[in-house]
Amino acid sequence: MKVIVTERIAEAGIERLKEKAEVDVRLKIERDELLAIIKDYHGIVVRSATKVDAQLLAAAKNLKVVGRAGNGIDNIDLDAATAAGVVVVNTPESNSVSAAEHTIGLMLASCRNTCSANRHIKSGKWDRSPFKGNELHGKTVGIIGLGRIGGLVATRLLAFNMRVIAYDPYIPDERFKILGAQKAEKLEDLLAEADIITVHTPRTEETMGMLGEREIALMKDGVRLVNCARGGIIQEKVLCSALESGKVASAALDVFEQEPCPDNPLFAFENTVVTPHLGADTFEAQNKVGINIAEQVLDALEGKLVTNAVNMPSLPDKDMDYLKPYMLLAEKLGRLYYQLEKRPINRVEIKYRGGIAEHKTGPLTLAYLKGLLEPVVKDRVNYVNAKLLAKSRSIDVLESLDSSASEYTDLIEVKVGNGNGAFTMAGTLFGMREPRIVELNGYKIDMEPAPYMLLVRNEDKPGVIGCIGTIMGVGKINIATMRVSRNSRGGKALMVINVDGVVPKDVLDMVKKVDGITDVNFIKL
Ligand code: NAD
Ligand code: MLT
Repeated sequence: MKVIVTERIAEAGIERLKEKAEVDVRLKIERDELLAIIKDYHGIVVRSATKVDAQLLAAAKNLKVVGRAGNGIDNIDLDAATAAGVVVVNTPESNSVSAAEHTIGLMLASCRNTCSANRHIKSGKWDRSPFKGNELHGKTVGIIGLGRIGGLVATRLLAFNMRVIAYDPYIPDERFKILGAQKAEKLEDLLAEADIITVHTPRTEETMGMLGEREIALMKDGVRLVNCARGGIIQEKVLCSALESGKVASAALDVFEQEPCPDNPLFAFENTVVTPHLGADTFEAQNKVGINIAEQVLDALEGKLVTNAVNMPSLPDKDMDYLKPYMLLAEKLGRLYYQLEKRPINRVEIKYRGGIAEHKTGPLTLAYLKGLLEPVVKDRVNYVNAKLLAKSRSIDVLESLDSSASEYTDLIEVKVGNGNGAFTMAGTLFGMREPRIVELNGYKIDMEPAPYMLLVRNEDKPGVIGCIGTIMGVGKINIATMRVSRNSRGGKALMVINVDGVVPKDVLDMVKKVDGITDVNFIKL
């Protein structure tokens, strides 16, 4: 596996990647060169500067994973990545504390004119009066976006005895209460009340330019602004005018509309404090980010579930441990249908029963769809695009949960609609969490999924099992296990035979000719 790293990440992360992949570190690579060579790579690790857009993804014929060493994913075209089956992973938690601390550092520097005073004293002068500032104590801070970083900033500023009000229409009231922040129902309420405003939203269509002329006019005179989230959330041109007029007393900015930007009119103001997108740049954060992204990229390359996939459901570690064997089971259940039936599907209904229904089951559905579609679609199928591919084939996917007890502690039941009724299957885990298929189209069985299997449908009458044994012996096929099930005495029966290798077509043809056998399928799970 080959991975290209286009922006600086911690050496520990590079070393971790090298344990399992060939790694090329190409910092500052030109876009054209990247477009030309990306086809050779299975993984790419970026920060915020590399644009992983539709053009790059189209050129990346072998790409499986984009690792965003950091949080914001506005430089990655998620839709294009999803359609291409490329998993995008990031490290949202790893740098939040650093970003929150930098926010507060910038806020204090801005209120106390630290940077101007620093320049002043280093130029051989000693004057205190121009640098008189303000305390945070007793002031009102308005936090826009009360997610991970906004929340960390809130709790830290409460320790400064600030009154914290926050605007975030997408989180429950409970979070405001837990964080000790007063909820602003409307953005305008926050704008009118805050002495200092700090933004912590992602850059989206809605937040881009959200603080413009109208919003700044609604703020208190002498308000102070902080942006350690994404450039452009505060409109830079408008901010320049507001700094000139004195409406805004100071601005502390870590991020800019254009990055990198060695030159920006905002740098000319004495009352701006600016840093070159340093929010996440601490040794602690970068070590965490580097190792975390390396591990996730390697997991994704090995086809494993990852903890922070942005374009597929991801799982916290505790759920991951519990669900891993079920993922395998779901995928094997998925592989059954097209190996046994040749009819197109229009609907997949999956019911999760028992304890499993209390966990995040979304990834299990993806695993089922991956197993189902892999044998029949030409595109790469993986956890990322499985749902999209099902949709593109007009397959409705329905998931339901039933945590009440059944015959099994946990059960995954699937009903596949094919316009001709339904094909059913169910699976569970036995003993040491080993997968078992326990129902197949109405037959109760105990089927241990194996790499090579024969599924024989027959009439329940004497001699059939013996004939199969003989044919397998003649064909030198070793039978590992055999299970039989019937719906009634003398009725229809199903035989599941695990064999040690591929069963050739001539042997299958001989089995098909046995009196009483109605159907034979060699399947691989
Ligand atoms: P998060 O997803 O945890 O929180 C973002 C919050 O913004 C969410 O609660 C969301 O509901 C809210 N939000 C979205 N749209 C909104 C709107 N229109 N109005 C109000 N609230 C809205 O993200 P996070 O981890 O806290 O990161 C916040 C920002 O900080 C992101 O832009 C991220 O890219 C940036 N970041 C910057 C640095 C840096 O180096 N400067 C480091 C890390 C993160
Ligand atoms: C992030 O979103 O994580 C930050 O912008 C930090 C970074 O990429 O350096």
